[in-house]
Amino acid sequence: MSRLLVIGCGGVAQVAIRKCCQNSEVFTELCIASRTKSKCDALAQKLEGKTATKVTTAQVNADNVDEIISLIKSYKPDLVLNVALPYQDLAIMDACLACGVHYVDTANYEPEDTDDPEWRKIYEKRCKDLGFSAYFDYSWQWAYDQKFKDAGLTALLGTGFDPGVTSVFTAYAKKHYFDEIHTIDILDCNGGDHGYPFATNFNPEVNLREVSAPGSYWEDGHWVEVPAMSIKREYDFPQVGKKDMYLLHHEEIEALAKNIPGVKRIRFFMTFGQSYLTHMKCLENVGMLSTTPIDFNGQKIVPIQFLKALLPDPASLGPRTVGKTNIGCIFTGIKDGKEKTIFIYNVCDHQECYQEVESQAISYTTGVPAMIGTALVATGKWNTRGAHTTDEFDPDPYMEMLNKFGLPWVVDENPATVE
Ligand SMILES: NC(=O)c1ccc[n+]([C@@H]2O[C@H](COP(=O)([O-])OP(=O)(O)OC[C@H]3O[C@@H](n4cnc5c(N)ncnc54)[C@H](OP(=O)(O)O)[C@@H]3O)[C@@H](O)[C@H]2O)c1
Repeated sequence: MSRLLVIGCGGVAQVAIRKCCQNSEVFTELCIASRTKSKCDALAQKLEGKTATKVTTAQVNADNVDEIISLIKSYKPDLVLNVALPYQDLAIMDACLACGVHYVDTANYEPEDTDDPEWRKIYEKRCKDLGFSAYFDYSWQWAYDQKFKDAGLTALLGTGFDPGVTSVFTAYAKKHYFDEIHTIDILDCNGGDHGYPFATNFNPEVNLREVSAPGSYWEDGHWVEVPAMSIKREYDFPQVGKKDMYLLHHEEIEALAKNIPGVKRIRFFMTFGQSYLTHMKCLENVGMLSTTPIDFNGQKIVPIQFLKALLPDPASLGPRTVGKTNIGCIFTGIKDGKEKTIFIYNVCDHQECYQEVESQAISYTTGVPAMIGTALVATGKWNTRGAHTTDEFDPDPYMEMLNKFGLPWVVDENPATVE
């Protein structure tokens, strides 16, 4: 029995909201608030008569802490699910603290303006100290841990698929299959085809920033950074087939390196087709991925934001995407003195997702875990106070809900490993 405020109404939010409405025993009331209220109203209208959850809508600029505070004060939610953009994480966390409500999100903080001199000073020091250069890292949100503890509140960080489910898979492997985990390879395979020469499956700006950045992995207690797309492997994914995949930096590596004692190596690979990579390289070479504003005909424009306006809206890919995703983790380690390897994964079909919630599998595989994490905080099953990632809680109720709400998983005890 809880009252939820969802901030954002894009691809991921629309799935998370529909899933909350399938779970109306937990989410009795829900307010959809976003920058563009018409999107919230359109979704609320589609849900009318199809759910027992009472749905309302509101407009909010989530870059503005005071606006979020007044919305929270007027709606009085028990918790806030942030499925806007990573740029808004800190503002929404501040508002939650000010109003005494729990906080949940799917992606860790990064600044919209990476040229901001104050942020850059801290960023450059972190690059030097830690050895990876991604714009996002957990330090900003972990800095809220004590404040959330003192307020008796939970901030659940990163409950999408990766991060989110991949970290729950790790906690599950640690609890049920291993005495020691030595290596973790997180594999994210999208075998789907949307028929466009180039489109991104989630917010283009966030996606292209992530993919065009240097790759990095954790090994023997430190980060190893490599040029973007310079480590390539092939893997034969169950139900999808052989795909090329590339090593990327990814946020859950940072949390798992901190929270899994004795882990020797953690890597993250994502599959990409040649057409995607060629387009991305070309756009990068001509400066279209830049986040630095330029003057154009007397107006300031940010190249990557202009590119976003040209690309297909990820939320529109649903009806045309066919094929499956396979996302999971290969673990190696020791159980009862013997070496052991397992692969825990989920396979998700783009068209089945579309039939159920009018969305492709990338938004689905993020939106379902966003609902699950929020439900576990709302019901008090996950009630550790402070700011925590999903690997820090009991994985069992989360794994049960994955099976129940559309993301069933498999444990393969004899998988192929990645070289
Ligand atoms: N963990 C994972 O596995 C995973 C995977 C994919 C995505 N994600 C994360 O999920 C989040 C949502 O991604 P998405 O693909 O759904 O993005 P999206 O389609 O671009 O949607 C973003 C939504 O946030 C709203 N928004 C943006 N700025 C706002 C502001 N200042 N105030 C209020 N609302 C604002 C947008 O409003 P407008 O309609 O006005 O633009 C839009 O409704 C992102 O943080 C992304 O990084 C996580």
